Amino acid sequence: MGDRAAPLLKVLVVAVAVAAVGGAQAWKLKEGFYEHSCPRAEQIVKHYVRRHVPHAPSVAATLIRTHFHDCFVRGCDASVLLNGTGGAEAERDAAPNLTLRGFAFIDRIKSLVEQECPGVVSCADILALATRDAIAVIGGPSWRVPTGRRDGTVSIKQEALDQIPAPTMNFTDLLTSFQSKGLDLADLVWLSGAHTIGIAHCNSFSERLYNFTGRGGPGDADPSLDPEYAANLRRTKCTTPTDNTTIVEMDPGSFLTFDLGYYRGVLKHRGLFQSDAALITDAAAKADIASIADSPPEVFFQVFARSMVKLGMVDVKTGSEGEIRKHCALVNHY
Ligand SMILES: *[C@@H]1O[C@H](CO)[C@@H](O)[C@H](O)[C@H]1NC(C)=O
Ligand SMILES: *[C@@H]1O[C@H](CO)[C@@H](O)[C@H](O)[C@H]1NC(C)=O
Ligand SMILES: *[C@@H]1O[C@H](CO)[C@@H](O)[C@H](O)[C@H]1NC(C)=O
Ligand SMILES: *[C@@H]1O[C@H](CO)[C@@H](O)[C@H](O)[C@H]1NC(C)=O
Ligand SMILES: *[C@@H]1O[C@H](CO)[C@@H](O)[C@H](O)[C@H]1NC(C)=O
Repeated sequence: MGDRAAPLLKVLVVAVAVAAVGGAQAWKLKEGFYEHSCPRAEQIVKHYVRRHVPHAPSVAATLIRTHFHDCFVRGCDASVLLNGTGGAEAERDAAPNLTLRGFAFIDRIKSLVEQECPGVVSCADILALATRDAIAVIGGPSWRVPTGRRDGTVSIKQEALDQIPAPTMNFTDLLTSFQSKGLDLADLVWLSGAHTIGIAHCNSFSERLYNFTGRGGPGDADPSLDPEYAANLRRTKCTTPTDNTTIVEMDPGSFLTFDLGYYRGVLKHRGLFQSDAALITDAAAKADIASIADSPPEVFFQVFARSMVKLGMVDVKTGSEGEIRKHCALVNHY
């Protein structure tokens, strides 16, 4: 085993030692929560995902982004799926339009589950299960999903804008954001790996290509971005500073494959967002990424899976908190 594996092993040991995550309620989740109340629930989710994701593999990225967003705002309570009411904008109104496809996907699974067992299975659990199953379908890792989450009744756009880590964040701010949710440096580094199947709109990083300091022009690119890669993006993808429609793969060439391409790109200074580039500005994070990029994918799968379990437990509602929504977009007594 080479020197480069050492920091990663340290991270693994630390992650195992940290048992208490996800706030006071997380321990109340358990695998197979619906075993008696809706025995086929997990099977219905899996079946639907296995039938549809192979024809639309990009749904996997949409789901994981939606689940992440959900857990970061008011905990994993499906608040991201709620429609705004009475003219007020909800969390989903802060989400990129591409995410909307994921909402419809979850709504369809929910209606199948409701047919089987009305009012029993939460939207928050369906989102967590469908995310896990979709990543597995595209050949990524799988992980345990303890269930028993309850659905929230409140969704506020501004909270999403304030709490979802922004693509422009530096390492300090990213880590602070993750820590505010009970997640740590390892979770930041490994959950960022979901960008292996990510896509980005040009305008979410175009200042790195055209206007990094505010002077403007192609001479004003972010020096932490590989200059050849930046020039190529300006020439072939994001040809104007204001392009808000073109989509760029975050792991070009394998953006539908859950692999190590994203981390290898980040190490080559080809991370698209400032928040991707930020990961190698921290010595410990950079060493972990270098180590993972040199290891078999199974090692990444293992640490990613562990962080997904933690993410899925952030500030969950259980017991008599919240409700089991009948429709994922609406609170029950709306
Ligand atoms: C939620 O809002 C969307 C438009 O933003 C609409 O298409 C959809 O029908 C709404 N869902 C429900 C259940 O009202
Ligand atoms: C989202 O889509 C709606 C209609 O489909 C459009 O009116 C709106 O401008 C879009 N918003 C963004 C941010 O793309
Ligand atoms: C990170 O960004 C924040 C602004 O969001 C800034 O206050 C802080 O100084 C930056 N930290 C570093 C280490 O650059
Ligand atoms: C470049 O950034 C500055 C400061 O953020 C802004 O005032 C200016 O309009 C930008 N120029 C372009 C071409 O976007
Ligand atoms: C994209 O930019 C154009 C022109 O600047 C603007 O009219 C349009 O509303 C923008 N679309 C989105 C989805 O932001």
